[in-house]
Amino acid sequence: MDGILPYIILTLLTIFAFMFLTNRIRRRRRNQTRARLPPGSMGWPYIGETLQLYSQDPNVYFSTKQKRYGEIFKTNILGCPCVMLTSPEAARFVLVTQAHLFKPTYPKSKERLMGPFALFFHQGEYHVRLRKLVQRSLSLEALRNLVPHIEALALSAMKSWADGQVINTFKEMKKFSFEVGILTIFGHLEPRLREELKKNYRIVDAGYNSFPTCIPGTQYKKALLARKRLGKIISDIICERKKKKLDERDLLSVLLNWKGEGGEVLSNDHIADNIIGVLFAAQDTTASAMTWVVKYLHDEPKLLESVKAEQKAIHKFNGDNLPLSWDQTRNMRITHKVVLESLRMASIISFPFREAIADVEYKGFLIPKGWKAMPLFRNIHHNPEFFPEPQKFNPSRFEVAPKPNTLMPFGSGVHACPGNELAKLEILIMIHHLVTKFRWEVVGSKSGIQYDPFPLPLNGLPARCWRESST
Ligand code: HEM
Repeated sequence: MDGILPYIILTLLTIFAFMFLTNRIRRRRRNQTRARLPPGSMGWPYIGETLQLYSQDPNVYFSTKQKRYGEIFKTNILGCPCVMLTSPEAARFVLVTQAHLFKPTYPKSKERLMGPFALFFHQGEYHVRLRKLVQRSLSLEALRNLVPHIEALALSAMKSWADGQVINTFKEMKKFSFEVGILTIFGHLEPRLREELKKNYRIVDAGYNSFPTCIPGTQYKKALLARKRLGKIISDIICERKKKKLDERDLLSVLLNWKGEGGEVLSNDHIADNIIGVLFAAQDTTASAMTWVVKYLHDEPKLLESVKAEQKAIHKFNGDNLPLSWDQTRNMRITHKVVLESLRMASIISFPFREAIADVEYKGFLIPKGWKAMPLFRNIHHNPEFFPEPQKFNPSRFEVAPKPNTLMPFGSGVHACPGNELAKLEILIMIHHLVTKFRWEVVGSKSGIQYDPFPLPLNGLPARCWRESST
């Protein structure tokens, strides 16, 4: 032991000297750029302002900060120093014009559950390649063919709602968005495999926001095991698909058929990670949006009447036998505006996670390398300068197009949501059948919000539903 002690001391001294020097160099470089850190407060050591953020409505937390410090401010959340940006120009700077200086950043525990090859963890050539494939499976042409199938799924989801029954709106919408996700990814999947996927995906989903520990029996550990099983199920589906040589237009086929210039193909792990990633990105977001639509329509009876009139006219035209057509879904003028206004009001993704990969200067302020840079969509969507009376649910505001970069429910730039048209389509189809077949009354609290982590009406909006024909 005596013999190695000097070596240990020497190694430690070298590490400290190295850290000291690199810190000084970084500080000197920063001083040379003259940029200073944005105003704001960093809270307590280690925990920063995490407690302040999580103990109050995030809307209030961020808007109070914006009022106090202006459009750009610093804070510290969960031990991460962050720069928050609240203007459309700043959002464009981070997500579009200087996107190469900011990489997407997610906790490692989440990455392990989704799979490290999922496109949204990446930047650069791999991301561009995968994104093109995902976009191809979600193109307007592909969606047009999905309309009757999504409609069948909406009808099937509503079939179990007995007259006078209280449903948990979010849970019901989640079932529907999951089925639409499976349809988009796999086309028509054998019911046994669909059930297996559903069972294991549910466990992954439940563990996603749990404390990340590998202790057996914990929710996170169970989620990791379920994730492994999901990978195996997807591998089996891939084997079957290869044997049958099916040439479908769904995401799985697009990923399977990709060949690089040198003839390389995607491995099963690459395919599984991206499939689970897309399913994850598609489910809770869309279900949350649909739950908000149900709530806003419930709270605005006059508006509900106009949406009903629009949808009943379509229903009357189609009769009981004709399915909804693509053109009809593209011409729901009033309902479409309701969807846009719901997305603005709810701002499901309050901000995207980015990290500066170099020291970056914006309007004389420094965003240091390694700090998070978060454009606050929610603040932009609720800024009266862009949306007068922002707390008022007013779809008619979309009779004129919003100013550029002020409406970003689906993000912006290189990572903007490739599923935005699908999400809107399934919401429109769901509304069509909801308002033509049901009336509903919210049960319990009419105003609370919970963050799960997406904002949701309290308890997932329990609602009592009645079939229209029986009233
Ligand atoms: C109302 C529903 C939805 C909302 C509000 C939403 C919102 C978003 C936002 C804001 C982003 C950008 C995140 C960032 O910049 O870091 C995003 C990315 C993404 N979304 Fe959506 N999304 C929805 C539905 C969907 C659906 C239905 C799908 C697929 C079927 C989907 C797939 C994805 C994927 C794969 C990404 C990552 C794109 C990339 O990194 O290039 N989303 N979504």
